[in-house]
Amino acid sequence: MQNKRPEDMKRIDSFELAEAFIEEQVKEIQAQVGDKKVLLALSGGVDSSVVAALLIKAIGKQLVCVHVNHGLLRKGEPEQVIEVFRKQMDANLVYVDASDRFLDALKGVNDPEQKRKIIGNEFIDVFVEEAAKVDGIEFLAQGTIYPDILESDGVKAHHNVGGLPEDLQFELVEPVRLLFKDEVRVIGKALGLPVNMVDRQPFPGPGLGVRCLGAITKDRLEAVRESDAILREEFELAGLAGKIWQYFTLIPDFTSTGVRDDKRCDEWPVIVRAVNTKDAMTAEVPEIDFALMQKITNRILTEVDGVNRVLYDFTPKPCGTIEWE
Ligand code: XMP
Repeated sequence: MQNKRPEDMKRIDSFELAEAFIEEQVKEIQAQVGDKKVLLALSGGVDSSVVAALLIKAIGKQLVCVHVNHGLLRKGEPEQVIEVFRKQMDANLVYVDASDRFLDALKGVNDPEQKRKIIGNEFIDVFVEEAAKVDGIEFLAQGTIYPDILESDGVKAHHNVGGLPEDLQFELVEPVRLLFKDEVRVIGKALGLPVNMVDRQPFPGPGLGVRCLGAITKDRLEAVRESDAILREEFELAGLAGKIWQYFTLIPDFTSTGVRDDKRCDEWPVIVRAVNTKDAMTAEVPEIDFALMQKITNRILTEVDGVNRVLYDFTPKPCGTIEWE
């Protein structure tokens, strides 16, 4: 398989070039796969969603998509994957709700790298178990993109959950492996995927697991998910969605004193993080309209259980990383 982008390869930045790429890839996939089945771990992220749409176009139900809900996804994400792929694209989609299993495995685990390892390993276990239930799989499709090849020797980004399960000895199908992210987005739009799926901000593989700091608890995880949904909704309404590179909320594992209904309450703070960056190596914190921040604060304080403060993280990278753990 060719793993080096030809020097004269045009940047795919128009609908016409995208259409030509899709047509060529559909033929290549059909030639590679024949009438065999292909397995894909479909996270709902840009890369795996575009690969899914491309393969559905090429081989329809010979593609078996497995969407593992590890319970650390953002609000509405599993529902959108089911809606788009099963209902709109009529894909062969296996949906696995493994939330309890992940939460059990993560119980009491504080160390961020340990949390990442557990989430990654558990993901592979669930995926391999699901793969074993489907007969006749001969290929594994992956959303490897060119930066993955450049950065990590051809393996899907080093810290990404959803990387290649090494115990699955299938031949790989990697139709977007020579493309950059912006090109994958253009292809996704040409394939008819929803814009909010294709243009979405980066989201770490371990998901909300690294935004519910320290040992994850169900109630704090729910509070992260709900506050994140409010932030995203309000940024979208304010027209900031495409303008700020990444934004999210997180909750540390301590409480502070507050007052609610004339009684003192010990509840968590929600921290809002928003950054602009080119390559995630350095990042600046954007100035956000104060009235908008007040609105978000009020909504979080009234709509999210267990939260009595909202803070904005002003720290650039360096010296703060984008995520908190
Ligand atoms: P940091 O926190 O290192 O983040 O400044 C840089 C970018 O990487 C994302 N990130 C991750 N992505 N798995 C991922 O797939 C991870 O474990 C992980 N940790 C950080 C982060 O969201 C930011 O975009």
